[in-house]
Amino acid sequence: MLAIFKFLKVFVHTVSFYLLTTPTQQPVNPTIFPSDVTVIVPSVGEFDDEFVECIETIVANGPRRIIVCTVGVAKQTKAKQVCSEISSRHLNARITVLSLALANKRAQFLRGVSAARTEIIAYADDHVFWPPTFLKSALAPLEDQRVGLVGTVKRVRRDRSGGFWKSLLNYIACLYLERHNFDCTATYNLDGGVFVISGRTALIRTNIVHHVDFRREFQNETWLWGTVGPMKVDDDNCITRWLVNHGWKIVFHNSPDAVVETTLGTTGGFEKFRGQLLRWARTTWRSNSTSLFSDRTCWTAHPWTTYAMFISSFFNIALIYDPLLILALYRSGYTRHMYSLLLAILLSKLIKPIEHLRREPQDIMVMLPQGIIFGYVHSLFKIWAFFTARNIEWSGRKGIK
Ligand SMILES: *[C@@H]1O[C@H](CO)[C@@H](O)[C@H](O)[C@H]1NC(C)=O
Ligand SMILES: *[C@@H]1O[C@H](CO)[C@@H](O)[C@H](O)[C@H]1NC(C)=O
Repeated sequence: MLAIFKFLKVFVHTVSFYLLTTPTQQPVNPTIFPSDVTVIVPSVGEFDDEFVECIETIVANGPRRIIVCTVGVAKQTKAKQVCSEISSRHLNARITVLSLALANKRAQFLRGVSAARTEIIAYADDHVFWPPTFLKSALAPLEDQRVGLVGTVKRVRRDRSGGFWKSLLNYIACLYLERHNFDCTATYNLDGGVFVISGRTALIRTNIVHHVDFRREFQNETWLWGTVGPMKVDDDNCITRWLVNHGWKIVFHNSPDAVVETTLGTTGGFEKFRGQLLRWARTTWRSNSTSLFSDRTCWTAHPWTTYAMFISSFFNIALIYDPLLILALYRSGYTRHMYSLLLAILLSKLIKPIEHLRREPQDIMVMLPQGIIFGYVHSLFKIWAFFTARNIEWSGRKGIK
């Protein structure tokens, strides 16, 4: 039972990822253009070189307007200055800088939404880099009026500078997004479900986020029968669940033309990275349980995703599951199959890194084994996050209490 529960998912997802992925092609006569898109970039950052590069890659896609929404007068002044420098270099850039009094990514996003006048909104973090083909490619699924939200493949820039530990953290961050891409692609191919569309970059129909019911829910979301919240974190999970619950189609657009790059895991050292890992794990505990037990739409709308992502995520703790598998086989008396089991466990851990290792073969010798060991260490994070899931801080982000 333990083996089937685990390996059925691994097998089916591998087949789905490699054989069933067919991203929507760009239509010959599109009806939606990059000029129908407003891009919202909530930011509490320093408006450094990374921010400039981020905005410039967005400008290169030719959206109608970019709205940077920041916090406080000082940051607004800085942002305006940086953005006017960008505008002076790129004639087609139209950038508006707005500001709120308090740092709250959800409120910053909604502030940007109120100012948007186009049919489609794209939202992006301040350290993502779009390819020039991004918007044209990612708009294609939205030609279908039933599609409300589009997510695409995300990739962390591999950075080996700064010594072994920094390089390892960056490698782990690479795999983290690689796993996201793999699982979202696999489940989307099978039943149209995803467990989240990451807020690092996504496209959404403006009338969904303009709606007063959405705004109320988004600003007052609570968890565990209203005892935790209102939440500022988990914004992307909240949006994804809203669409699932309201019958919209979500598309995970796995197209090489729409791969978004980002930076992760290299600045701020281990302390910050640990905070980030914990925040992610807490977020997914909260969101996965909400989908399963509170919303419950996923059981009928996306049954495979419900089994393979949501239910599995509650048992998928390698540090406990793998020893249980071995123990069960040992007690069964079929110990002659032990090597096969160990091999199967090892292989199952090699599938998701494959796409990364194909691009970065240097990582095979040193990083791959470390990454597998890290999988077990991460179990401890996951268990700790379970017991502290009521914590809704933005840990791992600077400047937010
Ligand atoms: C939801 O939040 C808004 C703004 O934070 C507030 O004005 C409103 O009273 C809240 N509504 C409910 C039902 O809690
Ligand atoms: C929530 O589900 C997703 C998809 O299966 C998974 O990646 C994530 O690790 C889960 N979170 C937890 C804490 O189990």
